[in-house]
Amino acid sequence: MSTPIPQPPGIPLLGNLFDVDPNNTWWSLKTLAEKYGEIFQIKVLGKRIVFVASGALAEEICDEKRFRKYVGGPIVEIRYAVHDSLFTAFDHEPSWGIAHRIIAPHLAPEALAGHFDEFVQCADELIAKWQGLGAGAQIRPLDELNRLNLEATALTLYGKKLNCLEGPAHPMLQAMEDATSEAMKRPNRPKILNWLVYGGKFKRATRALRSFAADMVKERKEHPTDRRDLLWALLNAKDPETGKGFTESEIIDEIVTMPIGSSTAPCAIAAGILFLIRNPDALAKAREEIDRVLGDGPFKREHVPQLQYIAGLVRETLRLSSAAPGFNIEPIPRPGDKSPVLLAGGKYQVPHNQALIIVLAGVNRDPAVFDDPLAFRPERMMGEAFERLPAGVKKWFGNGKRECIGKHWAWDFLVITMTKLIRDVDFEAVDPSYQLKQDGWFNIRPIDFSVKATVRAR
Ligand code: HEM
Repeated sequence: MSTPIPQPPGIPLLGNLFDVDPNNTWWSLKTLAEKYGEIFQIKVLGKRIVFVASGALAEEICDEKRFRKYVGGPIVEIRYAVHDSLFTAFDHEPSWGIAHRIIAPHLAPEALAGHFDEFVQCADELIAKWQGLGAGAQIRPLDELNRLNLEATALTLYGKKLNCLEGPAHPMLQAMEDATSEAMKRPNRPKILNWLVYGGKFKRATRALRSFAADMVKERKEHPTDRRDLLWALLNAKDPETGKGFTESEIIDEIVTMPIGSSTAPCAIAAGILFLIRNPDALAKAREEIDRVLGDGPFKREHVPQLQYIAGLVRETLRLSSAAPGFNIEPIPRPGDKSPVLLAGGKYQVPHNQALIIVLAGVNRDPAVFDDPLAFRPERMMGEAFERLPAGVKKWFGNGKRECIGKHWAWDFLVITMTKLIRDVDFEAVDPSYQLKQDGWFNIRPIDFSVKATVRAR
């Protein structure tokens, strides 16, 4: 006998429509995970979705022999903007393999090593901007880091200096916000409303995203360079297996996909700043390590492997921020077999084609794995302690073949930016009683979090 999957009571006909806030879906899911534990389900307009929120169950459904990425809901909606790109391709679409084989080598650690100084340069520019604002200037870390992330993405991947750290926000930032918020909301709205009321917003955002990408292509074609960066690969490289390259439209799809993916990283760092403000011991240990490894000199790539406490701190930040809030899984279809899928050795049963969503806010803080799960402890994410953790609680970059292709880029950006900020800036919360509250669409970020930033004398 299997155990029924817990479900909030809901209301007749509409089911659990009001248990999930359409303006803050992931926060609602985090709250439900806190209440119901390892697994729960909701029914909205007759459709059932099952959520997994424990390390053990996440590990089980990350078994690629039984499960695969589910391309549904918001991921299907965002295909309006990026079609069958890496992030949005269905399992059966050959475009995924072609794109993966062409792009992955250009986001591998060896390829990114050549961009180390560009990451440092971007962080230096942001810190110089804050210095210009004067000691104790009030800033919103998320807004500042979103700009930094777009600047670093465009520079490292497309060789384009946007200079978007200052001045009016770059239109790409609003376009990403509008496109992803629409993609999240559309599956739960009547189609006619999507078309009549919100269609224009989605179209405008898509146009802005694609024109950002088209500008990158145009500029590179007008000013050819020797850079062998991702843009070069998108324009020139061929898939070693099929010999195929990208069409003009597919190049735009992938150029747009990367900043949407990378926009998760600033959400993590913004939360990380809060964790450091709240944990002066961790900040002191991080500074001690940075001072020991870097001394008074410039930050160099050779320093990175020695920054073991920073590595733990970045992982702990990824764990507690759940900046990428989750990902979707479905059972691999078994032709002719519609029997239920068993989970946890038969404790739970779901239909053969049931979509499952991993809620990382639950998984990453699973009390069965983490002692005092809400505490910020970089030590538990270092060396052997990290290796010993079960695989299911280390899924902040997703899983298997559909794991984040930008994870090495994200790692470099996080390690370099956090090292620079910890070394060079003192942060103080504007509201000392601020409690972390997050919202977001394809990623989640601290809401209304402001700090006073003072660049340190060195
Ligand atoms: C802290 C930063 C990041 C986190 C936590 C993160 C997390 C994730 C997760 C969980 C997935 C799996 C999504 C799914 O299964 O549907 C994913 C996929 C993806 N990410 Fe990231 N990501 C980050 C940064 C980046 C960056 C910097 C890029 C690009 C430079 C990027 C590009 C992508 C792409 C293209 C995919 C789809 C891969 C595929 O399906 O083959 N991400 N990411």
